[in-house]
Amino acid sequence: MLSGRAENRVDSFLPKSLPGRTGRQEFVGSFSGKGYNNISTVNPRTERLEEPLKGLILAGGFATRLRPLSCSKPKLLFPIVGTPLIDYMSDWLDRGNVGEVILAVNHLSDKLRMEVAARKMGDRMALSVEETPLGTGGPLRLAASMMPGREPVVVVNGDIVSDIDLNGLTRAHMASGAEATIAVFSVGDARPFGLVTLDSRDQITGFEEKSPKAQGPGWINAGVYVLNHSVIGMIPEGRAVSLEREIFPVLANRMKLRGWRHNGFWYDIGNIKDYVATNMDLLKRGDQLLPDMRNDVSRAVDVQQPSHVGGHCVIAREAKVGPYAILSPKVEVMSGSIIRDTILFEETTIDEDCRVEGAVIGEGTRIGRGTTIGRGSVIAGEIVIREHSVVNPGSIVLN
Ligand code: GDD
Ligand code: MG
Repeated sequence: MLSGRAENRVDSFLPKSLPGRTGRQEFVGSFSGKGYNNISTVNPRTERLEEPLKGLILAGGFATRLRPLSCSKPKLLFPIVGTPLIDYMSDWLDRGNVGEVILAVNHLSDKLRMEVAARKMGDRMALSVEETPLGTGGPLRLAASMMPGREPVVVVNGDIVSDIDLNGLTRAHMASGAEATIAVFSVGDARPFGLVTLDSRDQITGFEEKSPKAQGPGWINAGVYVLNHSVIGMIPEGRAVSLEREIFPVLANRMKLRGWRHNGFWYDIGNIKDYVATNMDLLKRGDQLLPDMRNDVSRAVDVQQPSHVGGHCVIAREAKVGPYAILSPKVEVMSGSIIRDTILFEETTIDEDCRVEGAVIGEGTRIGRGTTIGRGSVIAGEIVIREHSVVNPGSIVLN
């Protein structure tokens, strides 16, 4: 839920719309939409490219595997250890020398627009809104006019949490002469992903999206790319296109696709199980994802570590929180309640004497007094659970 302050800022946000065949573009703040005509060079002191690149986050689709949480919240706003994914991504792209960022959206685009407009980073973001979902390639074609110039473009899936070195990826791309460079990550079971075959010089010789034959370990597409404009030119206009099924295999055949091996952390939050595992893993690592992820709850409160308590949370002294409790900002936990192994989205209220274990609860939801929520349950955002309810383990509670 937005605060009054955020809504006021939205009132003063007047997008400039451009007509488009399958969608529209909206520029926010000072987004220039200008190209960079000079070829970028690397500054050896900072190891950053001199000119910032343009980026595009693929943030459309219906996120069906994250339902019911995604019914009221786009994936980019899902909290990652209490911080919305968009804030994490924006910081990561900024460090990776990506200046202006296009959000390619369709589902719940109004919510995203309001959140972006309410943030400082909104100044360097623009929305490209599809009338109908255009897949992972079509949005690039739709937004092509927003990315003029000759510089390559950084494209990322909007459900990735990673510390991929975008400067390194971009440099490797520019040095190689490839038309596209894909960050690749090694996993134990490649079936849910795009399986990439690389030669000893990191040339990609094969790309197979979600192949049932890919069982077992392998290098997979991490959903982070640097693409030349020639690749955007390969994407047919006016229809949904899959980069992974229609474009990357062709580039691999032409020996114009390279891989860039990433050895740090990498998560895809695309389904509830992975979303929870990502949060708990990052919580365990204890890394500061963003500098402002601090906890301002008094030490007198019973919070067992590891846990995360976001800003402006209220926890009663007689409540027990943690271990493995992740409270987004503005959560309230009342007296006698126990919260363990659980993720609470922002502005959730847990009334007195509740027991919540192994659950995920969406934003703005109220759990009535004396309720028990069993393991593996997922409760949608913006609903009220009546007092003394028993939510059986593994339940999905919708509006
Ligand atoms: N704008 C827009 N329009 N974005 C879309 C659309 C669309 O129609 N469809 C999907 N997306 C966005 C999703 O929101 C997500 O951020 C990204 O494109 C990838 O789509 P997913 O649906 O999450 O794909 P996936 O996770 O099954 O597979 C992709 O990611 C894997 C890594 O996590 C592929 O790129 C795989 O090759 C890759 O291994
Ligand atoms: Mg995904």
